[in-house]
Amino acid sequence: MTEPVEKHLKDYKRPDFNVETVELHVDICETETHVTATLGVAKSPEAAEGAPFLLDGKELELLEIEVDGRTLSEVDYTLEGEVLTLPGMPEAFSLKTKVKIHPETNTSLEGLYFADGTFLTQCEAEGFRRITFFPDRPDVMSSYRCTVVADKAKYPVLLANGNLVEEGALADGRHFATWEDPHKKPSYLFAMVAGDLACRKDSFTTASGREVALRFYVDHQDADKCEHAIESLKKSMAWDEETFGLEYDLDIYMVVATHSFNAGAMENKGLNVFNSKYVLAKPETATDTDFQNIEGVIGHEYFHNWTGNRVTLCNWFQLSLKEGLTVFRDQEFSSDMGSRAVKRISDVRVLRAAQFPEDAGPMAHPIRPESYIEMNNFYTATVYNKGAEVIRMIHTFLGPDAFRKGMDLYFERHDGGAVACEEFVKAMEDASGVDLTRFRLWYSQAGTPKVTVDRAYDAETKHYTLTFTQAVPDTPGQSNKKPMQIPVKMGLIGADGMPIPLTLEGESAQGPLERVLSFSANMESFTFTGVEDEPIPSLFRGFSAPVTKVVDFTEEELIFLMGNDPDPFNRWDAAQQLFADTILGMVADVRDDKKLSLSEPLVAAVKKTLTHDTLDKALIAQALTLPSETELGDRMAHIDVDGIHAAREFVADTLAEKLKMSWRAVFEECADDGPYTLDSESIARRRLKSLCLTYLARVETPITTFEAFASATNMTDELAALTVLSDLDAEESEKAMGLFYEAWKADTLVLDKWFMTQATSKRPGTLERVKALAEHPDFDIKNPNKVRSLIGAFCQGNPWHFHRKDGKGYDLLADTVITLNAINPSIAARMASGFNRWKRYDEERQGLMKARLERIKNTENLASGVFEIVSKALI
Ligand code: PHE
Ligand code: ZN
Repeated sequence: MTEPVEKHLKDYKRPDFNVETVELHVDICETETHVTATLGVAKSPEAAEGAPFLLDGKELELLEIEVDGRTLSEVDYTLEGEVLTLPGMPEAFSLKTKVKIHPETNTSLEGLYFADGTFLTQCEAEGFRRITFFPDRPDVMSSYRCTVVADKAKYPVLLANGNLVEEGALADGRHFATWEDPHKKPSYLFAMVAGDLACRKDSFTTASGREVALRFYVDHQDADKCEHAIESLKKSMAWDEETFGLEYDLDIYMVVATHSFNAGAMENKGLNVFNSKYVLAKPETATDTDFQNIEGVIGHEYFHNWTGNRVTLCNWFQLSLKEGLTVFRDQEFSSDMGSRAVKRISDVRVLRAAQFPEDAGPMAHPIRPESYIEMNNFYTATVYNKGAEVIRMIHTFLGPDAFRKGMDLYFERHDGGAVACEEFVKAMEDASGVDLTRFRLWYSQAGTPKVTVDRAYDAETKHYTLTFTQAVPDTPGQSNKKPMQIPVKMGLIGADGMPIPLTLEGESAQGPLERVLSFSANMESFTFTGVEDEPIPSLFRGFSAPVTKVVDFTEEELIFLMGNDPDPFNRWDAAQQLFADTILGMVADVRDDKKLSLSEPLVAAVKKTLTHDTLDKALIAQALTLPSETELGDRMAHIDVDGIHAAREFVADTLAEKLKMSWRAVFEECADDGPYTLDSESIARRRLKSLCLTYLARVETPITTFEAFASATNMTDELAALTVLSDLDAEESEKAMGLFYEAWKADTLVLDKWFMTQATSKRPGTLERVKALAEHPDFDIKNPNKVRSLIGAFCQGNPWHFHRKDGKGYDLLADTVITLNAINPSIAARMASGFNRWKRYDEERQGLMKARLERIKNTENLASGVFEIVSKALI
């Protein structure tokens, strides 16, 4: 095998040839599909003399090729590897190709594929080249007209981007539909579908009074599960009009749901394709979290219509231009629809659980990567979630009004264009007058900055000084980094719990109660004057920057912040810090076999929060959820799997025991037999009830948990109880699993939950059960949702079992990666990254993981994506 090549941002050049028009004719048969493409091509004025026209093509069988009606012979072109080269082309010409492809055997779920009875496409990032020969890069933008032909009885629904312009019957029971997209687009936004699907219809009237037809295509049996997604879409459309003045620009918006999808969803112009888990929901089958995720993902894909589609990317290195910005937009949308603080907490949990480890591992990259081997590997928490944090910091520095002006200017300048992250920053800068020169380092430097804060109070001068020091860690290919510009949203709190005015040295007027400090040196001090008594600082409110903060807070101070910080996010964060300090502080004692004990003030603080009568119940639930074993591990230089597990279990058991009466009382108080409603208050109540159940199960008999399971009337309560039961080594656990399966075996999305609860169980024998479940008739290695629910959940969400000392957890992952390599390389690569943190463990485990990585690396026909992950991990 030749080693895959790495592509570099510094080598980027605009294309030599532009494709103005694309006419596709896709003729679908059971055992093969013919694609005829007619491209209207024009040489770019900047193209070098004699530059050839290069087209990408992958797994295509070339049947015919013509230029301006003349059939080319083999001396007129070369076809090597995945590149078709046409030398000596005129200024403008028409290229026609005909290829044969095999969607029916395409298990990669990229390009055109057949799954669960439907033909559909996935072109981002480089899937269009699996459909036809094309310069498959986002800076080539064309007008598309697409005709789909298929058997009418089997595939009555034929869709593509834009508007339906013609349809009709053909011979032999076949039919066709022709779609035309009035907007130019890059090839990655192309989509088409042929299937037998139910259609749920609705409509939306835009601010300017245009009526948009909304169409949701799903399996017939799922037609009753679209309501929430449709409502979410309407809310998204209205929100983007109100918040950013952005209207939808076509007369029809289609969403197709599929059970077989590599990612969450895809923003193809006017024809989104969704993983069914982000569309289908009703209270009996979906949890509150599912409902919220649907709202968020529907919003995300809709918002892409402007941030991604109308203004697109000039190359894939700029992916965060659309993804970071669109995640920011969907986060803001969800915050406005529900509770802002709760949304922020869950987003930060994701960032800490997924992005921080990535930023500290072998795949660490800036939000605008400088190179890649396989683009699919860069749809990461860094590009998406840290990318959104970077946009959020710009929003924090500029304020909402200037940010909105920046957005307006960005669209004014670049609508219809394919641009880079730089164009976004420049628009923000020009619209606001704020200098973002140093801030740009967030786009080029990887690694999570560590900010240490020192505090000094001078009782005589009444001066309070905060000294910030930052260290940006070395990451692969990057060392000796420059200090970043970091927004520190903060306040000072007096002993009485009241906020103190923030007057900086040199200011004459009394300052505000909250402010954003801009910290952009290696070390910088901020002195506040007129501070009567030593305050407690509340720093990085709302998580104002994606950094790790180190402050030498005592337990007492954290408890104070947990109860008094006016910023709800920071109250939660203080609780998390307190738990993390406590648990990590015990790990050494576990190792030395010392007796563990939990401090009384901590128990009292937990009780106070739990029984607080004015706090939002959702915030209480978040605050009293202990940090996960994975997150705790990430806070340790050398991860002690067993120590963390034992210490965390001890803290949970002790809190359960000492506050037994309170957990029970709050549980009862949160019970409600009324019908299921999806308002924030009901969600909060269910969430707190579930949390109480997790603690109660540690001290009460399994029968009570089983009763909670059996009496549940919605999936939120049912799954919460099942998850608690799954950790118990009791017959009730098996019984509940059996009942759940019998009740839901016809619903593949609910079965994913069934696989997942068993995969993340703390019970002994979990690995053996996971292996047995991989042989279950309802498990399907070709279905990414199933792989993620069972194997993914086990390897990423069950560290204590995955890191078994006999290495059998590692074998399961390596075997899965090797099997998937031949089936779905993109999912295989994602799974392989489960070994990325191997160097953080003890020597024995390091050795075991390294051996598995090497085994994968030596696999024959290793896909470039898997190669990239394992070879970088092994450096
Ligand atoms: N662009 C999609 C999104 O973020 C994600 C995606 C990437 C889907 C690649 C499929 C393949 O909305
Ligand atoms: Zn996206």
